[in-house]
Amino acid sequence: MSLLQVRDLHTHFISRNLDNEIRVAKALNGVSFEVSRGEVLGLVGETGAGKSLTAYSVMDLLKPPAKVVGGTVEFDGRNLRDLEAEDMNKLRGSEIAMVVQNPRSSLDPLTRVGEQLIRVHTAHTDTSESAARARAIEKLGAVGIPAPEQRMRAWPHELSGGMAQRVLIAMALMNEPKLIIADEPTTGLDVTVQAQILDLLRELVVTHNVAAMVITHDLGIVAHYCNRMAVMFAGRIVETGDVETVFDNPSHPYTRTLIASTPERLKEGKQKVLGGGAPPNLYNLPPGCHYVERCRFADESCNKPLSLDQVGDGHFAMCTRLDAVREGWPS
Ligand SMILES: Nc1ncnc2c1ncn2[C@@H]1O[C@H](COP(=O)(O)OP(=O)(O)O)[C@@H](O)[C@H]1O
Ligand code: SF4
Ligand SMILES: [Mg+2]
Repeated sequence: MSLLQVRDLHTHFISRNLDNEIRVAKALNGVSFEVSRGEVLGLVGETGAGKSLTAYSVMDLLKPPAKVVGGTVEFDGRNLRDLEAEDMNKLRGSEIAMVVQNPRSSLDPLTRVGEQLIRVHTAHTDTSESAARARAIEKLGAVGIPAPEQRMRAWPHELSGGMAQRVLIAMALMNEPKLIIADEPTTGLDVTVQAQILDLLRELVVTHNVAAMVITHDLGIVAHYCNRMAVMFAGRIVETGDVETVFDNPSHPYTRTLIASTPERLKEGKQKVLGGGAPPNLYNLPPGCHYVERCRFADESCNKPLSLDQVGDGHFAMCTRLDAVREGWPS
């Protein structure tokens, strides 16, 4: 049984134009995925695909004009969409923790690191200050910060980007979360630090038995650090499965294009597949497949409503012309 099950999630931006007519940007259009304890799910797709919006919709952190208008978010047996704001608030930061890009901007520049870690814990529990302090030191150690006791006194500006991200991960662990959502956690960090942070996340998923969702535009990160993946395009998951399965046997043309364009594949002498293009207009999406404008396999059958269909063991894709794609794809 998965810890988090998201089913058919729809999120819209609802506004009015100058003529006072309602305008709806359909940013999430039936997002479905799940993630279990001990597993890292990679949510991957180009900028604007709706990855962050998915995280914010799950966490109930949207601000108007964004609004979840349909679907279910089941977490540990509860439908989060039914929870009162107060209960949802308790759940965030305790059972579900979020790690974001630009860790320094998430830390309070005027408060020492240790104090921030302690506050995260005492705000959610009845723990004493001294117990919270001991826990903060333990968590700083768990994320590989040397001399954690001294580091408790550090100011955020004294930390490197990599160290700041470790502190944020320690903060995420303070309340023993069941799920960690990391949104582009290593964007902006140099490659070596990026690898250390992602190795750490993967290790913590096992040692702390949590579920993790890593949001990234970088397929290399998914290949190296995730167990399962969900490929997002224009507010939908278009393919999902075990990382190895999807990389060995990508089905959707968008996934195929992404994989064919990775440096590893190009190094193998594979032909570069052009797959770029403008993202679809969220105010006026096509009735069927959202990829239709970019897809060279498109025909009239692609204008019908689609579903995420099983194509293999735990492997699903949203495309009506998989046979034509398989036959016509350049080898
Ligand atoms: N106020 C808004 N009105 C309409 N669309 C918006 C608004 N804010 C964001 N969007 C759209 O929501 C989509 C999802 O964005 P986001 O989740 O941040 O993408 P990602 O994290 O995958 O890069 C984007 O295509 C963006 O253009
Ligand atoms: S073949 Fe049709 S359904 Fe499949 S990805 Fe292309 S446009 Fe979409
Ligand atoms: Mg984003």
